Amino acid sequence: MRRMVAETRVHPADLILPAFVREGIDQPVPIEAMPGVVQHTRETLKKAAVEAVEAGVSGIMLFGVPEDAKKDAAGTVGTDPDGILQVAIRDVRAEVGDDLVIMSDLCLDEYTDHGHCGVLDADGRVDNDATLERYAEMAQVQADAGVHVVGPSGMMDGQVGVIRDALDQTGHEDVSILAYTAKYSSAFYGPFREAVGSSLKGDRKTYQQDPANVRESMRELALDLEEGADMVMVKPAGPYLDILAKVAESVDVPVSAYQISGEYAMVEAAAEKGWIERDKAILETLTGIKRAGASTILTYWAVEAARALR
Ligand code: PBG
Repeated sequence: MRRMVAETRVHPADLILPAFVREGIDQPVPIEAMPGVVQHTRETLKKAAVEAVEAGVSGIMLFGVPEDAKKDAAGTVGTDPDGILQVAIRDVRAEVGDDLVIMSDLCLDEYTDHGHCGVLDADGRVDNDATLERYAEMAQVQADAGVHVVGPSGMMDGQVGVIRDALDQTGHEDVSILAYTAKYSSAFYGPFREAVGSSLKGDRKTYQQDPANVRESMRELALDLEEGADMVMVKPAGPYLDILAKVAESVDVPVSAYQISGEYAMVEAAAEKGWIERDKAILETLTGIKRAGASTILTYWAVEAARALR
């Protein structure tokens, strides 16, 4: 009867798998702080995409990890048509076609030698408007490579509008934008920075949001929608369910929540110690995120959870 009257259900199609692909490796490299998650080779990424399709997952979000020597201040490989992310988009698109919604992280932090999400000005501060020009180029090369949805995650002001224009002007009117709308400056991104081999020394407080703020997120939301966001995201998920509920109540576009690396690591670490029941805890976190109002959830457990939910 509980099953019959359940108010919330998580469906495999609600789930999106974030995946890392690293240049110059011939075996997948495990990410220490995310047991079970790897940096893929081009070959194993294709296999992971096929597995996701078979499990019923609806989307994949791709992150590129270039060779360290290729990082520079402008994040040049992020806009190189032969850069690792663009190559991976083409691989996955050739492998699974339209069976999976192929999404890509649109941000410079994986490619800059200073690790920031944008380019810097003469004083070493992130230069918002110069960064927008780089994002416009990134949108075009990612779309040229065959991505269905770009996910701008750098939190620069005006990024959605600039990317929409760039896509429209280059014949990519059908490529959608999943805007990272309420992205908080969070301590829970720690394991991700290992996953992408981040070079960041400082923090992202000048462009990501203060965990104390709600109204600020609602303002970011209004701006993103006005600029043409097709879907919006709240990130992290677990510690920000109130934000998620509020966003979901106030918009008529699909709302995503990103269950991030630190949320994953906490459950895995406690389970490894035998302190919580891993499988139940995972489904409980996903149910909570869905109950709060998410239409889709980005989670590193996507494939495993989809199989359990079928
Ligand atoms: C930035 C980006 C980050 C994540 C996704 N995109 C890291 C950051 O802002 O430092 C974090 C995802 C996670 O922690 O799982 N390109």
